[in-house]
Amino acid sequence: MNERIVSGAPHEFDHSLDSSLRPRRIADYIGQSAVKNLLAISIKAAQQRGEPLDHVLLYGPPGLGKTTLAYVMAFEMGAQIKTTSGPAIERPGDMVATLTQMQEGDILFIDEIHRLSRVVEEVLYPAMEDYFVSWVIDKGLKARSMNLSIKSFTLIGATTRYGMLSPPLRDRFGNIHRLDFYDEDAMATIVGRSARILEIDAEEQGIFEIASRARGTPRIANRLLRRVRDYAQVIGDGVITADIAREALSQLEVDGRGLDGTDTRMLRSIIEKFDGGPVGLDTIAASISEDSDTIEDVYEPYLLQLGFLDKTPRGRVATRRAYDHLGFDYGEDEPNSAQASLF
Ligand code: ADE
Repeated sequence: MNERIVSGAPHEFDHSLDSSLRPRRIADYIGQSAVKNLLAISIKAAQQRGEPLDHVLLYGPPGLGKTTLAYVMAFEMGAQIKTTSGPAIERPGDMVATLTQMQEGDILFIDEIHRLSRVVEEVLYPAMEDYFVSWVIDKGLKARSMNLSIKSFTLIGATTRYGMLSPPLRDRFGNIHRLDFYDEDAMATIVGRSARILEIDAEEQGIFEIASRARGTPRIANRLLRRVRDYAQVIGDGVITADIAREALSQLEVDGRGLDGTDTRMLRSIIEKFDGGPVGLDTIAASISEDSDTIEDVYEPYLLQLGFLDKTPRGRVATRRAYDHLGFDYGEDEPNSAQASLF
């Protein structure tokens, strides 16, 4: 699949870049102030008591810094962190092996934790609650379980799909935090910081242009920054100015609000083919040849955040803002208007 430049999910080549830009200390972590303040208190309290941190669940759209925050917490706690992901732990035995290798106070970070299978999840319950794992030995009538105690550790789970987490797992987290899209100021600070670290010559307006098109998502901002730098180097004189950033981003088909071709196609389809809606998710999906789940998980969150799309019980509706942004007339004869709804 062709990867979208404005996707919050990691691209293959993001990894080395992301880690060089990752803040280590909580004080260097920009934005998400409510979550950051609460975590700073939990960290301090745990340190004062000489105990491991309570288990933490971080959820929210991809690319907002859940992994980064897990590493920041490990750094602040002076703890070792081991990273894995839901799909990587296939069998209960893998989970048992991971847990029994943890040292006192270590952090286990499980990304995409909603993708753990139920049998693997069940290994986690007693581990999280009472620091032991149950291991079934033998089969059939002779089957019996053996309890192995493990070191007290902290689980940090991350998910983009809070609703898909099973309630028993959700209930075992002491701290549950939602990360939200970053506002423009925070985004500009993040892009400015990344430009400094990467020694990129960028003017303030150039930084702002990138920040405002990055969909409130640091991972996207850092990716765009790198692409605009290439453009500035080859087409310009190496400096990221507002004009260079605008030109580069429009060549990459990222518009002024960070929408790409697929977002635009979807909104256009709702407006042009379905009179602005309401229209069902599956119908939209069929009209632009996309998968419904992809639309719901990948495209919609940012369009909802921008206020370009509305979710109603009867289906999706393109808002006046979407009409304005795409240059459509939100006219009186438009079916969503007050007059039309009288009939
Ligand atoms: N890189 C990614 N997310 C970040 C954040 N919130 N603050 C600083 N740098 C970041």
